[in-house]
Amino acid sequence: MKIKNLAILFSGNGSNLENLYLHLHNKIFDGMKINIPLALSSRRDAYGIKRCEYLNLKCEILSSKDYKDKSVEEYDARLIEILQSYNIDLVVLAGFMRILSDRFCQTFCALNIHPSILPLFKGSNAIIESYQSDMKIAGVSVHFVSKELDSGILVEQDIIHKIEGESLESFEARIHSLEYKIYPKAILKVLSKCKI
Ligand code: GRF
Repeated sequence: MKIKNLAILFSGNGSNLENLYLHLHNKIFDGMKINIPLALSSRRDAYGIKRCEYLNLKCEILSSKDYKDKSVEEYDARLIEILQSYNIDLVVLAGFMRILSDRFCQTFCALNIHPSILPLFKGSNAIIESYQSDMKIAGVSVHFVSKELDSGILVEQDIIHKIEGESLESFEARIHSLEYKIYPKAILKVLSKCKI
């Protein structure tokens, strides 16, 4: 049976990481087994590290702070080395707060999830900007990672309808629920259709 090794990269809360691990790790889809041997955090204080502990998921830490006087390329060289040592086929970004270098993008096939209907509301304030916009819908996008922020070919998108008078917290919770639904779906689509 074909086995695909996935690594999940994160920097914060890690709720997508947990959802992906529970839905995909050690599961068989279309005769293909998904294995998630590794998570990696760019922050030592990320809550996702605790999630890895209770999920029993190996978590490496490659702290951005340790590379603050070094280049993106130097950070990524180490990142690539770690991922290659686990034979990773697909890299999954889930709240990983770094821009990746050209070299990284050429070495790995990687996906990212973004909490807006791209190309609208790129960047780290996507949820509030889309909440405050006068659009009647909001949504979530999964795309291939390219060296430009929140760009790259789209794999999956889905939307929610705004509810009049809804609080930001409730809106945000609905966006996250949508993320938990579409990210596993997008990953399976890429694994089955791409030559990874
Ligand atoms: C998500 O909203 C994701 O779309 C964005 O970063 C957030 C990560 O949340 N890229 P979590 O750490 O998975 O809870």
